[in-house]
Amino acid sequence: NATSLKDAATTFSVGMITRDSYINAGGKHTETLKAEFNNLTSEYQMKMEVMYPSEGNYDFSAGDVIVDFAQANDMDVHGHALIWHNATPSWVENFAGTDAEFETMVEDYITTTLEHYKGKVRSWDVVNEALEDGSGHPLRNSVFRQKMGDDYVKKCFQFARNADPDVILFYNDYNMASSPTKREAMFNLVDGLGDLIDGVGAQMHISYNGPSAANIQAVADGTVSRNLKLHFAELDIRANPEEDPNVSSLSTTRANAQKDKFKEVVQIYNAIPLDNKFALTTWGVRDNESWLLDFWGVPDWPLMFDENYNKKPAYTGFLEGL
Ligand code: XIL
Repeated sequence: NATSLKDAATTFSVGMITRDSYINAGGKHTETLKAEFNNLTSEYQMKMEVMYPSEGNYDFSAGDVIVDFAQANDMDVHGHALIWHNATPSWVENFAGTDAEFETMVEDYITTTLEHYKGKVRSWDVVNEALEDGSGHPLRNSVFRQKMGDDYVKKCFQFARNADPDVILFYNDYNMASSPTKREAMFNLVDGLGDLIDGVGAQMHISYNGPSAANIQAVADGTVSRNLKLHFAELDIRANPEEDPNVSSLSTTRANAQKDKFKEVVQIYNAIPLDNKFALTTWGVRDNESWLLDFWGVPDWPLMFDENYNKKPAYTGFLEGL
């Protein structure tokens, strides 16, 4: 009888996010990480705006706290994320220089970061959320696309591959299950990367009542058929997708529906072939720390632990999915 998520999940890593401040504070946060998880992701401190705040000046201090903690406790680290339009420092948004200089700057950034973390960070999201949600799902017109062209994603993967041939490289995006057209666009993008890419990160920001198991399965099937690794990343399951502003607690009915969805996600992940497995990562320990509270601005309880670090039915659902 397994006593933790990581012991129960014998064929893949169980991931969690953290912050340097949570690690420095210790207590129940770090106890929970050590007890339950074996793969760590930085919630926002290994993004470009934190790691590369001004030209020529890198800051890996917060990421290093996370990486050191992981190493001391036998956990892998998943690097998230080198390039993301939402975490680009303003000096990069307003880059003063030619397009060629911009591209050299991006190559230096990726190379410096991967070399700093060589042997310590096992995998990286190279590009996060490159695709638009709208019709046809074209590439977002980010500063990277504007200055490096439509093949900027491929260039970034090549820079990463050159910097560290051993690190596992992912493309990460959201709505892979809920939007079949975005899923198709994502697989087209991935196909264009050839063997520069090792895996697909499917952000699992979902709800207790959707997307369907069939649509989640389609993400797994598309990834497996391409012989890529699959990361079910950023899992959280909204219990209040109706966005009722007045709901004051998680009802038993909703807690159980959420449990069933956790179980379903884990079941689908657990059933993929071993070679395609990587990790299933949940985006937050306690309900009250979830980014979704700010993002949607309504009450919710999307995670596996309540605000007192008690295991919720969702936690049991994860175990039952194995
Ligand atoms: C979020 C973090 O949770 C927040 O703390 C931060 O302020 C913004 O980013 N998709 C992603 C994640 O890929 O990096 C985002 O994380 C959530 C959406």
